[in-house]
Amino acid sequence: MSSTPVKVAVTGAAGQIGYSLLFRIASGALLGPDTPVELRLLEITPALKALEGVVMELDDCAFPTLAKVEIGDDPTVVFDGVNHALLVGARPRGPGMERGDLLEANGGIFAPQGKALNEVAADDVRVTVTGNPANTNALIAMSNAPDIPTERFSALTRLDHNRAISQLAARLEVPVTEIRRMTIWGNHSATQYPDLFHCEVGGRNAAEAVGDQEWLENTFIPTVAKRGAAIIDARGASSAASAASATIDHARTWVEGTPDGDWVSMSVRSDGSYGVEEGLVSSFPVTVSGGRWEVVQGLDIDDFSRARIDASVKELADERDAVKALELI
Ligand code: NAD
Ligand code: LMR
Repeated sequence: MSSTPVKVAVTGAAGQIGYSLLFRIASGALLGPDTPVELRLLEITPALKALEGVVMELDDCAFPTLAKVEIGDDPTVVFDGVNHALLVGARPRGPGMERGDLLEANGGIFAPQGKALNEVAADDVRVTVTGNPANTNALIAMSNAPDIPTERFSALTRLDHNRAISQLAARLEVPVTEIRRMTIWGNHSATQYPDLFHCEVGGRNAAEAVGDQEWLENTFIPTVAKRGAAIIDARGASSAASAASATIDHARTWVEGTPDGDWVSMSVRSDGSYGVEEGLVSSFPVTVSGGRWEVVQGLDIDDFSRARIDASVKELADERDAVKALELI
């Protein structure tokens, strides 16, 4: 085992996702069995007592890869020297809250956290935003951290990516391992576009393998895009273990890279590729190598896909305009 622990910050650590995520990270699921991890856990003051209980449970697991745990309510202390920042804690939408209220409340969280990361994080910090609205929260954090390269900020659309793989595998009755090159375009919201036209199943084009445009349009896309709401309806709470698992998948891919011939979906700052307005944090197909992601280039986008990508990107632009009006970016 190497001797210097990698510092991983998790915000909202006493929440539902945190309860699954922390144990996965501590057991080596993010950085492997040979890398010791120091967890740096941020919560709001009233949740620190509950977080102390979670830390007792982490201690009780005696994980060989867990070197140390620090908790606190001050981001400039908790983020000190962190190599990975998993920003999960966010303000959920409450009764009577409009989208703008949610963006304002979350701006109050992600602007100071972006500033704190800028001030104290390690030079190689990589930031993953899971807390909703994830894409725009990532934009807020990024905009408040001018000294951190923009390519080190990302938002989670890996859960949507995994959901799309699982739905397609079930429809075609194949193992998930047969599916490559899945793409989620746009926002982590109901407007997202899961794309089967560039996806492959056992080396064959997925849309052709399905051979049913009606299913693709009226079942597959809405099932994936509205899966979060379906889970809230069924469970009475939003997805947590699957969101934690996808957060691990996302951050691990960022470290380990993508397999040859495959890609993943990550929400990253657009450079204008595929007509997505530069500067928006939007989901793209990306390959990762040596800790750096690159948007897959040269995919043909037909009219069907174009309209769906444009609709989701428009929503991102509206969210960007709303947080700009609030002077959060
Ligand atoms: P939760 O309410 O159980 O936990 C959130 C935690 O964040 C709470 O413990 C709260 O005290 C904490 N928190 C609030 N403000 C904070 C701050 N300023 N600093 C640090 N911590 C703070 O929620 P959850 O189920 O764990 O979900 C967390 C977020 O993840 C939500 O926004 C949810 O919508 C989102 N989510 C995203 C995806 C995705 O795929 N991107 C999937 C599922 C859930
Ligand atoms: C999910 O995709 O499961 C969540 O983002 C849903 C939500 O609104 O919390």
